[in-house]
Amino acid sequence: MLKGAVIGCGFFAQNQLHAWADLPGVGITALCDRDPEHLAFAAARFGITRTYTDAATMLAAERLDFVDIATTVASHRVLVEAAAAAGVHVICQKPFAPSMADARAMVAACEAAGVTLMVHENFRWQGAVRSAIDALHGGAIGAPFFGRVSFRSGFDVFSGQPYLATQPRFIIEDLGIHILDIARALFGEVTHLSATTRRVNADIRGEDVATMLLAHRGGVTSVVDCSYATRRSPETFPETLLEIDGEAGTLRLDAGYRLTLSTPRGEESRSVAPPLLPWAERPWHNIQESVLRIQAHFLDCLAIGRAPETSGADNLRTLALVEAAYASAAGAGTLDPAEL
Ligand SMILES: NC(=O)c1ccc[n+]([C@@H]2O[C@H](COP(=O)([O-])OP(=O)(O)OC[C@H]3O[C@@H](n4cnc5c(N)ncnc54)[C@H](O)[C@@H]3O)[C@@H](O)[C@H]2O)c1
Repeated sequence: MLKGAVIGCGFFAQNQLHAWADLPGVGITALCDRDPEHLAFAAARFGITRTYTDAATMLAAERLDFVDIATTVASHRVLVEAAAAAGVHVICQKPFAPSMADARAMVAACEAAGVTLMVHENFRWQGAVRSAIDALHGGAIGAPFFGRVSFRSGFDVFSGQPYLATQPRFIIEDLGIHILDIARALFGEVTHLSATTRRVNADIRGEDVATMLLAHRGGVTSVVDCSYATRRSPETFPETLLEIDGEAGTLRLDAGYRLTLSTPRGEESRSVAPPLLPWAERPWHNIQESVLRIQAHFLDCLAIGRAPETSGADNLRTLALVEAAYASAAGAGTLDPAEL
């Protein structure tokens, strides 16, 4: 039985705790949160008695195989480095780090310590998105040449995560990071990126609309568009929609989790709707299902000593797209993310 601890017991960690409880071969034996109320709430809810308000104290006192870091980005580097120094494997929430320099230092610390580092980059693990990735990579529509990866919503994310309204960076750093990562998972690495941003909601500090144009090394051009200022009916939060054109057909992932492949042989359309896990709630259930899947992947990787698909090293390339998008939107034009 692997022993883990969750650091940060706020809004999203509840999903992670539910998923750990569902997975075989693992137990969360300790919790840490600097906020005693959050700590007490999660401890009571999940029946975990060993609790700490300081991560260093916990790492010194507990015998752990891994930590699951579910705090917000400002604390990620110090916590990842502390876990590496203690010789325990790490999963860390996105955004992985506030800068490329911090992210590289975190990857280097885990490599030097010989521990596995995975970023909880879960959108590419959503069942519907995974079905599209598998169909594309299985050759269902031939070689792709165009893609649109789109997330447009008017959902009030600020009630559950009030900090999102106060940050100078909003949609690219918080949500676009996932959508850019899906574009990478579908079409491969990016050689050029340009972006525009806008703030429509006057009550928040950062941008709530971003439109990004990506050139991928394999020859695909993709548009990654994100908005939290889009009033639409039906509201599609939190679905990522896809339009992909290939040399032998088209793939669409439409609202309502419908995957359609159109080829000269005809049209094949099926539901790829996620299951509603016992602890899940609509409309978040596709994200909640992806938490279970990504955490299962982490355990599989630990069992066979393989680097996770969304390892820290892999996530450097997603983070570079975020940085390139902000720099481009600020006037830097088209950028090669590898140079950041
Ligand atoms: N992957 C996803 O789908 C998804 C969805 C929502 C949030 N997130 C990410 O999850 C992370 C947490 O977001 P949230 O909305 O749950 O935030 P939150 O503020 O609700 O929870 C964070 C918790 O961490 C605690 N904390 C902060 N620094 C700490 C430290 N140094 N030591 C111990 N505890 C500390 C806080 O007290 C708080 O309880 C963010 O990085 C966010 O981007 C991911």
